[in-house]
Amino acid sequence: MFVQSTLITLALVLSASASPVAEGLGTRIPFEKREGFTNGSGWFDHDRAVAQVVRDRNKHRNNMINLEHNMGRNNFNEGAHIRPVANYSQMDKSSHKGKRQAESLTDEGGDQYWAGNIQIGTPGKKFYIDFDTGSADLWVPSVNCTSSYCSGKNKYDPSTTSTDSRKSGSFSISYGDGSKVSGPVYTDTVAVAGITVKNQYFSPVNTLSSMFGGEAMDGILGLAFPSLSNLRQPPFFNSAKSQGAVKNGVFAFKLAKTGSELYLGGTDTSLYTGAIEYHSVTGSGFWQVAGASLNVGTKAVQSNFQTIIDSGTTIIYGPPSQVKTFYQSIPGSKVYDSSNGFYSFPCSSVPSNVSFSWGGKKWTISAANFNFGRVSSTTCIGAIAGQDLGLGTNTWLLGDSFMKNVYSVFSFDQNSVGFATLK
Ligand SMILES: *[C@@H]1O[C@H](CO)[C@@H](O)[C@H](O)[C@H]1NC(C)=O
Ligand SMILES: *[C@@H]1O[C@H](CO)[C@@H](O)[C@H](O)[C@H]1NC(C)=O
Ligand SMILES: *[C@@H]1O[C@H](CO)[C@@H](O)[C@H](O)[C@H]1NC(C)=O
Ligand SMILES: *[C@@H]1O[C@H](CO)[C@@H](O)[C@H](O)[C@H]1NC(C)=O
Repeated sequence: MFVQSTLITLALVLSASASPVAEGLGTRIPFEKREGFTNGSGWFDHDRAVAQVVRDRNKHRNNMINLEHNMGRNNFNEGAHIRPVANYSQMDKSSHKGKRQAESLTDEGGDQYWAGNIQIGTPGKKFYIDFDTGSADLWVPSVNCTSSYCSGKNKYDPSTTSTDSRKSGSFSISYGDGSKVSGPVYTDTVAVAGITVKNQYFSPVNTLSSMFGGEAMDGILGLAFPSLSNLRQPPFFNSAKSQGAVKNGVFAFKLAKTGSELYLGGTDTSLYTGAIEYHSVTGSGFWQVAGASLNVGTKAVQSNFQTIIDSGTTIIYGPPSQVKTFYQSIPGSKVYDSSNGFYSFPCSSVPSNVSFSWGGKKWTISAANFNFGRVSSTTCIGAIAGQDLGLGTNTWLLGDSFMKNVYSVFSFDQNSVGFATLK
């Protein structure tokens, strides 16, 4: 039985104000919307999409390393493996039609996340954070990060907080640009929308990858299971539950153009209609659900695969051969970029009949969410890409192009993921 609590609301709104505004029982925090890969006049930004692929590949490479270390390889999905580091400079961007100059990485990837404020330390210092269901650690820039990638970002300084504690060990993720996100390990008080956790493990990072320079966000707060943690410590939400800072080990997302929110401690009944369709989590670290089908209209074009729900990316990834089969059901579709797995289709018939299902309702991806934008006056790019992230030969990763179509619920209490119809 799921308790519908009204504990805390984190609102993702487009307004720019940064200070939390109390409202009723919850606390509303302004969030920035993810912009995706479509520019103001509807064109697909290929460089930005490739940068996202590189980030996703390296993030999940790191997840597999952590999962192997924490749980052993026998917890890998079928065919899962640790891929080599993806290097942005070596990625094939040849299908880019030269419509504009390649940007430097530091100008790239802005707004590709759903972010809001948290506070670290006593007194609390504000950080602007990407909430990521596809990873399990919290990191922010350190005062010791002097590289240009850290300039303009909020930085953690242990000398300005009375509740810091340096721990042994270190934190490190490799990104494919010759740099890492790495730093020492600390604990301190962390507060998100009034939910306060003491002695939360995190890393103030001394080095930041160029993949994160030039972005508004300071760092990442992982919402996946502890077995994916590089710090090998309970992530923020798990600490919040065990310290009694939230009653229910449940959080839920509405991701949309307006009125988006992350709700911690239950579900926000004002945002969805009907029952929540819950499915048990399979596997041991991701928000993963088995028994999925991908449908075009009434026809299942792939069935019985694993799905991982990841708020940290825009893209929906499937194994390359399965994605190829899927696009055979999309009239006029073609490979656009074989190395990064993107496909095109005629802009005059953007599919509005593509859905995922898990034995219940068909959860349809709207045409707007399926379309990443045009690459010519007549050709558009699809949100489903074929790419081996190392997560398994029968495993898909569903980013926000899927999540934007549903109310999604993540329950540690019931070890399940749920979907409901957005109001
Ligand atoms: C979008 O991208 C296209 C192609 O690169 C470019 O011609 C157009 O000016 C861009 N529009 C905006 C608003 O940035
Ligand atoms: C920054 O560097 C100083 C000197 O090496 C060290 O004492 C301090 O702990 C570092 N701070 C962080 C947050 O890493
Ligand atoms: C990435 O590729 C560039 C260009 O080939 C190379 O200079 C750089 O060292 C590579 N970085 C890593 C981490 O392999
Ligand atoms: C799905 O939508 C596309 C584009 O509108 C259409 O061409 C196709 O016939 C539809 N397929 C099914 C199976 O309904």
